[in-house]
Amino acid sequence: MTSQKTVLRALRGETLPTPPIWMMRQAGRYLPEYRATRAKAGDFLSLCYNPELAAEVTLQPIRRYGFDASILFADILLVPQALGADLWFVTGEGPRLSTITTQAEFDKLKPADDIHEHLSPIYETVGILAKELPSDTTLIGFAGAPWTVATYMIAGKGTPDQGPAHALKDENRAVFDALMERITHATISYLSAQIEAGVEVVKLFDSWAGSLQDADFMRYSIKPMQVITAALKAKHPNTPIIAFPRGAGERYVGAHASIGADCIALDDGVTAEWAARHVQTDGCVQGNLASSHMVSGGDALVSETRRIVDALSGGPHIFNLGHGITPDADPENVQLMIDTVRQR
Ligand code: CP3
Repeated sequence: MTSQKTVLRALRGETLPTPPIWMMRQAGRYLPEYRATRAKAGDFLSLCYNPELAAEVTLQPIRRYGFDASILFADILLVPQALGADLWFVTGEGPRLSTITTQAEFDKLKPADDIHEHLSPIYETVGILAKELPSDTTLIGFAGAPWTVATYMIAGKGTPDQGPAHALKDENRAVFDALMERITHATISYLSAQIEAGVEVVKLFDSWAGSLQDADFMRYSIKPMQVITAALKAKHPNTPIIAFPRGAGERYVGAHASIGADCIALDDGVTAEWAARHVQTDGCVQGNLASSHMVSGGDALVSETRRIVDALSGGPHIFNLGHGITPDADPENVQLMIDTVRQR
């Protein structure tokens, strides 16, 4: 029997009267119940590795809002940690990792298939969610795309322009390429295991794709994602894949085909009207309300939400933000967005 889940229907190319909706970072610090559970776990990473509590925070926005999809609670930086990098979070600043910039540092990383013992709590979280989610809610797994993960592994932190990763790419291509390949294979292995544990869709986050110029964009954003989708499709042909080459701009055109993805997630740097004409013609798109509306709310939130829904109503669309919701967002604005999408 084919599933009636709206997110899966949109991902298969169906145009629905009301787009299904979920939100990047829907389990996060803007929710008081998330902050309470994180305090119970101790800190963010302890929460990621505690299957009961990670499942609990994944379910919180589903209970509060009834989103059509839930995204596994974890982080893209768990893969570097499973490969042997040190990882910690500095409150108010973000992630910190031990850096990989030399052959000697690269040589200390584990093989791509040796990540599963470390990541086993994540698969356990998936197992709990597969049982506990409402029957009409789609479970989305995810990983970072190789370029974005590499930018953190090379710099040891988030950077405004990904300078250290660009420098390694230009100055020590052998180490850079070896690192990209290790991450690519670990990601295939990790996402396969998530699918085997029960996720129904996977999403690749290439949050820093936009800083890759010219041929580098194809070589280091699109191509590694294509290698991952081809390997996953060979093993799990029925699992849809969403790719998010954030900041791609005009290079969103043709991305479905070049990546081999079922859906392309759009940031708010492109308009929904443009995407309807140039991207949605190739398949499902997801996006792309600016997350600042979750802070400011009001009439602008309502009119922008309506504009996006209308612009993309002629083809398969999953409503979402253009990037993750921020900690200063008002939970009532999230409800207003959902009501606006569903009232049509
Ligand atoms: O979307 C979800 O609700 C699922 C869980 C999820 C998290 N991170 C939880 C998280 C997902 C899908 C991610 C992806 C992620 N993580 C990305 C790609 C998407 C994007 O935002 O571009 C990146 C680049 C990361 C790495 C990361 N994790 C950073 C840079 C930070 C610090 C910045 C920040 O927002 O604080 C994190 C921490 C993080 N990941 C939090 C959450 C809920 C906040 C940590 C906390 O609760 O203290």
